[in-house]
Amino acid sequence: KPIYILNGPNLNLLGTREPEIYGAMTLDDIAAACAAHAGKLNQTVEFRQSNHEGVLIDWLHEANLKASAVIFNPGAYTHTSVALHDAVRAIEPPVIEVHLSQTAARETFRHHSFVASAARGSITGLGLASYLLGIDAALHCLHH
Ligand code: DQA
Repeated sequence: KPIYILNGPNLNLLGTREPEIYGAMTLDDIAAACAAHAGKLNQTVEFRQSNHEGVLIDWLHEANLKASAVIFNPGAYTHTSVALHDAVRAIEPPVIEVHLSQTAARETFRHHSFVASAARGSITGLGLASYLLGIDAALHCLHH
């Protein structure tokens, strides 16, 4: 089964969106790097982005049937969404929360994650490496 890599709102604008915080890579660049990293580990990935909370919930439900694990960057919904917390809790595959930026070092409204307490683990603040280490963490969960 593939690893689903799900991305929330505004991440489609990476590259032009606050590059001093999020870097110059586009989401397509991140998708390509994830596919390459996973390929070396004999894994496939299904990489998606939506600006809509309900779509992310539907994808988590789909992942329950079709994914071995989920890498999840919920964007700003991280800090607002009980519904995403519940969806992450509701599914069987391990979910690794990832963030490009170090949210704990930013505005106080980013300090709380509703997703963290439902996820198996979180990797935050490492840019692209958060995603690549997220893939490693997902495989770790599957093999231990
Ligand atoms: C983010 C951090 C969130 O606080 C923010 O709303 C984002 C991106 C990150 O990857 O650093 O949209 O999830």
